[in-house]
Amino acid sequence: GDMKMWGGRFAEKTAASVEAFTCSVHFDCRLYRHDIAGSRAHARMLARQGLISDEECRLILGGLDEIEGEIERGEFVFRPELEDIHMNIEKALAERIGPAGEKLHTARSRNDQVNLDFRLYLREECDRLDGLLAELQRSLVTQARRWRQTVMPGYTHLQRAQPVLVAHHLLAYFEMFKRDRQRLADCRRRINVLPLGAAALAGTGLPIDREYVAELLDFPQVSANSLDTVADRDFVIEFASAAALIQVHLSRLAEELVLWTSEEFAFVELPDAFCTGSSIMPQKKNPDVPELIRGKSGRVVGHLMALLTLLKGLPLAYNRDLQEDKEPIFDTVDTVSASLALAAELMAGLNFREEKLAAALRRGCMTATDLADYLVRKQVPFRQAHAIVGRAVAYALEQGRDVAELSLVELKRFAECIEEDVFAVLSVEGSVNSRNSLGGTGGARVDEALAQAESEI
Ligand code: ARG
Repeated sequence: GDMKMWGGRFAEKTAASVEAFTCSVHFDCRLYRHDIAGSRAHARMLARQGLISDEECRLILGGLDEIEGEIERGEFVFRPELEDIHMNIEKALAERIGPAGEKLHTARSRNDQVNLDFRLYLREECDRLDGLLAELQRSLVTQARRWRQTVMPGYTHLQRAQPVLVAHHLLAYFEMFKRDRQRLADCRRRINVLPLGAAALAGTGLPIDREYVAELLDFPQVSANSLDTVADRDFVIEFASAAALIQVHLSRLAEELVLWTSEEFAFVELPDAFCTGSSIMPQKKNPDVPELIRGKSGRVVGHLMALLTLLKGLPLAYNRDLQEDKEPIFDTVDTVSASLALAAELMAGLNFREEKLAAALRRGCMTATDLADYLVRKQVPFRQAHAIVGRAVAYALEQGRDVAELSLVELKRFAECIEEDVFAVLSVEGSVNSRNSLGGTGGARVDEALAQAESEI
């Protein structure tokens, strides 16, 4: 055996190719703080249970502090031949403090240890992502307040449909990100269960106290089944899924910014600081940031698929395959964090082009539904009203006009009951302000929604 911590039963040195293939410390070193926090709690429990002495515990805690400081200062030398972060730290501890360090792994396996580290890590990341989501919500609400009076075309099938308040559109994203925060909070509840003490797979015969460790590490719950505990990566997949949905929401928002900045829409202007130019076309101002946010959804969704596929054929309990859960998650965290931060900055700097929005609203017969609803109020059955307005729209479009531009005489040709008061509902403002059903775009409803959103953030 060589220096391997598990070298006892081996007659041959590990092949270099195998060391390179199985090594994970170049990425799982990201878990060093969590690994050390877990070891501190484990050592304190071992001492309390009389499995190590108080002096040994003191040495372990001191050694772990030093190692943590070295890693933070970039002085720690990670050794790939020690495979992963867990054994790098444990070995460094033993080298530093001697036999006491060799007692740290009592009643513990890397199988429950790595599960613990990942839960501690993801618990933090849930909180951090929640903060980034809140920041993005704040910039959406600020903009919704700023553009509260501005109306824009609302779309279905990407065809002009009905006028809506810009604020209503922005608050639609507020709601999506609110649900994303709820999903993270829900996922965090299942992350927040202590796995340590499951040991390799079957628990341990040594007199450990899992509840005490849970208390030290602030876990409200201890896992129930040791086999399930070391095999469980549900919490990883739930996190990846919540993160993928966040990125998909960001991608939809980004897609709208890309559309809206095009000359064909010209609804918004992005700050120069958030755009890039072309190496050949001097006139270009490209929306690369939203494009990249949209594009990065590919990798985040891919990571979720990778994790689901990773798990699907695994028998109980721990399998080394599970080491493959780290990189997809680290990249997910990095990608979603950066995208959220950029989206918040981008939304804060967004300017709507009111004259372009107003011009767009003059075309597309967007108040046709309002005309049908007007007829309904005059006792015309809705299906008949729909057909009548359809004929009026066809007539207006034939002449290159909007249905709101027809005269009373012209409108009366389609339905005798139409009177002068029709023009109040045919205007864009009249249309928006009438839509005061719960959750609608009516000014009164949007004011309530804005006040509600502002109270939540
Ligand atoms: N590096 C491993 C992982 O990430 C730690 C657990 C290894 N356990 C084992 N029995 N080889 O999954």
